[in-house]
Amino acid sequence: MQKIVIANWKMNFPHEVYHEIKNSNIDTANLIICPPQAYLSQISAEVGTHVKLASQNVTHLSEKNGAFTGEVSAVMLKNLACDFCLVGHSERRIFLNETNADIKQKISHLHQQNITAILCIGETLAEKNNGQSHLVLTKQLKECLPLSASNHNTIIAYEPVWSIGTSICASTTEISEAFDFISAILIKEFELNLDLVYGGSVSPSSFTEMISIEKLKGILVGSAGLKLDILKELLKIVENKL
Ligand code: PGA
Repeated sequence: MQKIVIANWKMNFPHEVYHEIKNSNIDTANLIICPPQAYLSQISAEVGTHVKLASQNVTHLSEKNGAFTGEVSAVMLKNLACDFCLVGHSERRIFLNETNADIKQKISHLHQQNITAILCIGETLAEKNNGQSHLVLTKQLKECLPLSASNHNTIIAYEPVWSIGTSICASTTEISEAFDFISAILIKEFELNLDLVYGGSVSPSSFTEMISIEKLKGILVGSAGLKLDILKELLKIVENKL
C-alpha cells in the first residue's frame, strides 16, 4: 500500500508548488494539500479533480450555517470538494485555545458530511520530559474522538509538539513506540484500527528512514511542503523512485 504525503501550507501560499500542481508536473496520486481557507474555492475549481484537498480547519459551532462571524462549516467544505480536514493541530490548540471538546464537535460535523478528519495529537516537550506522553495521547484520543469515528473517516496524525517547526524530527524508534501505544489505545477504547501518519520536521532523509515503520500510513509536513524540490523528493520516496 502506498503512503500519503499531507502538505499543510499553514498561512502560506507556495506559488511555485501550486504552479507545478496546476500544470500536472507533480504526480499528485499520493498527495493531499491543505491550503489556507481563503484559497480553497479557487484551488478546488482549478485542480480539485486531480489533487485531494484538505481544509486546515472547520467550525465547531454548526455543521451548516448561522450567525458565526468568520467561521466556515463542514457543509461549505463539502461543497468545495474537500474530502479531508485537519483537526486539533497544536498551533490551533496553542494560539487559538482550541479544546478537546471543540475538536470532538468539529470531527462530528465532518463525519456528518463524509469528510475524513485528520486528528492531530502529540505531547509538548515539558510533557515528554515529565514522562507524561502516554497520558497526554490517551487523554487527547479519549476526549477528541466522537462515536462516529470509523476506520474510513478518521486518520490520526502523531505530531509531537516539540518536533513541529524545530528541525528535530522524532526518531524511528520514538515514532514506532508512539504508534504502538496509539494503536493499542484505539483498539482497547474504540475498537478502531485507524491509519496513522507522523508529522514534525520531516525531511527526505528522515522520511526515508521512517518509511519502513509498518504502521506508518504517511507523513504530515509543514515547511517541507512549501518547497518544490523537497516536496518532489518526498513524493518520489513514496513512489519508490529514490
Ligand atoms: P513542520 O510542520 O513539518 O514544519 O515541522 C509540521 C506540522 O505542523 O504539521
